[in-house]
Amino acid sequence: MRHYVSEKRKLIEDFINGYFNPSVNPSILHDSVIYSLTAGGKRLRPILCIAAYEACGGRENIVPYATALEFIHTYSLIHDDLPAMDNDDLRRGKPTNHKVFGEAIAILAGDGLLTEAFTILSNTNYAKINPKTLLNIIAEISKAAGLRGMVAGQALDLISEGKEPDRETVEFIHLHKTAALIRASVKAGALLAETTEERVYKLEKYGESIGLAFQIVDDILDIEGTTEEMGKPKGSDIERGKMTYPSVFGIEESRRKAKELVDIAIELLRDFGEEAEPLRKIARYIIKRSS
Ligand code: IPE
Ligand code: IPE
Ligand code: MG
Ligand code: MG
Ligand code: MG
Repeated sequence: MRHYVSEKRKLIEDFINGYFNPSVNPSILHDSVIYSLTAGGKRLRPILCIAAYEACGGRENIVPYATALEFIHTYSLIHDDLPAMDNDDLRRGKPTNHKVFGEAIAILAGDGLLTEAFTILSNTNYAKINPKTLLNIIAEISKAAGLRGMVAGQALDLISEGKEPDRETVEFIHLHKTAALIRASVKAGALLAETTEERVYKLEKYGESIGLAFQIVDDILDIEGTTEEMGKPKGSDIERGKMTYPSVFGIEESRRKAKELVDIAIELLRDFGEEAEPLRKIARYIIKRSS
């Protein structure tokens, strides 16, 4: 598993490095984008996309398309940390983008990463993929990241600060701000492999389940983790009065829910063979992680 993940991570990082040669002008924008993209994220979303693709028997090199998901994710983190949003100073073990490059450049780096992701996704030259399939994954990913997906979740997350925690609200927040892009990453891998509708459906559900579990664990780590391991400030949620799973259900019940979601996700892979082993292992890792 460690080998699988580090191998994929390297492919993703090689693509990122190659993509920014030639560099972006002006150089401050280039440096800002590279700073956040290479600060050492886990690369969960592109790895999930590739793992789902391979679980469905895909053989092409889809690393560029998978990496587009990391561009979208990294944009969301740069904006999430801005003073107008979560106002955090540390990300991926380093000062946040706006701390180093200023708010204006950080906003533009995010805008640029989001837009550039679709430049990559609409490029038909990276692999032998039917253009119609690319159009399908663009539709999925843009929906998951957009006004009815991640952005909606982020908006509700922010306007719910300091409010009385309730179950429906926190579910909406987490399913949208985090699970939507994770679900779309897995589904994109399945669609790229042109697998059966049933498999696409199961993988999509798998993605949503681990996506929700992932954010529940993120909330738990905000309380129980360490700033050092997470590379971001512990206690940020409590400081801002965020509506989180622990604030609604308590820590123990949140842990139980995360585990239940991971069990459901693994069960959804029952009819998949050995090729789905990385997806099973990633699901188990979600609740064991400390960063
Ligand atoms: C952080 O995502 C934001 C959430 C959705 C919880 P990750 O924990 O995947 O962050 P990186 O990419 O590894 O930095
Ligand atoms: C962020 O959720 C989800 C995103 C869409 C970026 P959080 O605000 O909990 O993420 P962290 O804890 O700052 O990484
Ligand atoms: Mg946030
Ligand atoms: Mg945040
Ligand atoms: Mg968090």
